[in-house]
Amino acid sequence: MAFLADALSRVKPSATIAVSQKARELKTQGRDVIGLGAGEPDFDTPDNVKNAAIDAINRGETKYTPVSGIQPLREAIAAKFKRENNLDYDWKQTIVATGGKQILFNAMMATLNPGDEVVIPSPYWVSYPEMVSICGGTPVFAETSIDNGFKLTPDALEKAITPKTKWLIMNSPSNPSGAAYTEAELKALADVLMAHPHVWVLTDDMYEHLTYGDFKFFTIAEVEPKLYDRTLTMNGVSKAYAMTGWRIGYAAGPIELIKAMDMIQGQQTSGACSIAQWAAVEALNGPQDFITKNKAIFQGRRDLVVSMLNQAKGINCPVPEGAFYVYPSCAELIGKTAPSGKVIETDEDFVSELLEAEGVAVVHGSAFGLGPNFRISYATSEELLEEACNRIQRFTASLM
Ligand SMILES: Cc1ncc(COP(=O)(O)O)c(C=O)c1O
Repeated sequence: MAFLADALSRVKPSATIAVSQKARELKTQGRDVIGLGAGEPDFDTPDNVKNAAIDAINRGETKYTPVSGIQPLREAIAAKFKRENNLDYDWKQTIVATGGKQILFNAMMATLNPGDEVVIPSPYWVSYPEMVSICGGTPVFAETSIDNGFKLTPDALEKAITPKTKWLIMNSPSNPSGAAYTEAELKALADVLMAHPHVWVLTDDMYEHLTYGDFKFFTIAEVEPKLYDRTLTMNGVSKAYAMTGWRIGYAAGPIELIKAMDMIQGQQTSGACSIAQWAAVEALNGPQDFITKNKAIFQGRRDLVVSMLNQAKGINCPVPEGAFYVYPSCAELIGKTAPSGKVIETDEDFVSELLEAEGVAVVHGSAFGLGPNFRISYATSEELLEEACNRIQRFTASLM
């Protein structure tokens, strides 16, 4: 009898964590490495949020909380959905978890039976298919392409849906592509979903606040209110408020689903960290100027990286609407020979030769289900980004 669970054989380790680890190892060996693999803002958590946590400790808010979260946070979440997304949720329709990751996992755990399918547009965030598989479901990939800005088309969605489809996972702006859907694009997808009433939508809006230029963010239940009864709208404080380590994510949706997720969480981690929950109350209810300031910084970095990558030989980098990632194609470089003598056959070869030759750590696109591409996280200083892009230009010019 095998000791480890069969479920484990269906799961891949996270490629993004592996890249960060490899970069760290090379750095400890004394190599000059620029890591562009991490998916977290390089800013510090705002002071008002930190102080709210300190106050919570001093007030003795250090005990177990209700499983779904403290009421002031759930009310702040309901108010946020009303204020920013024009969505009416009672606070009892909300749930707080240990990061957005746990929300996603518990939603899958609470709803998937063996054989249930979950439609995931590719490229996708690495954890979606793995979570679906761990929970016994089957991920079904709906491919996008660079030509339509890495966005799911109504046609591709229609083709991916079967009688077994339980969920569609939407993620806008997207990790890894940065693509974000306009109101009209969401409406066209919603129209397809209206013809398939058995399909629910889990929308991961984690990067909502990171969109650039005059792009206006929409979430699907706002665009098509008839989907409200089968949508789980997920969000969190990790990316918007530079709070990745605090581990607070949240969602709102139909009460029966929220209760099911509460039951899973109650037998698992229970309520999220009490102190982090009070910090999140301040993040959502307090001043929001932090977001505007950082958006401007990220936009400057995006423009720099896109422009410099498009000057690198053989690289094609579309301009993404949001998040802090770009997802350039390296298709033209497949078949070329690196300075080490290795022929670049895949995007994984491309990123490993780039790391070897120039010490720039990025993540290969095939890890996100669509290549040959690579993902750069531009959540780091302009100075480092400029140096990294110079090295990428030098590397692509050196390929024979
Ligand atoms: C698309 C997406 N969803 C969810 C998460 C998880 O967020 P959290 O740190 O709150 O668990 C991430 C983090 O990288 C992400 O990129």
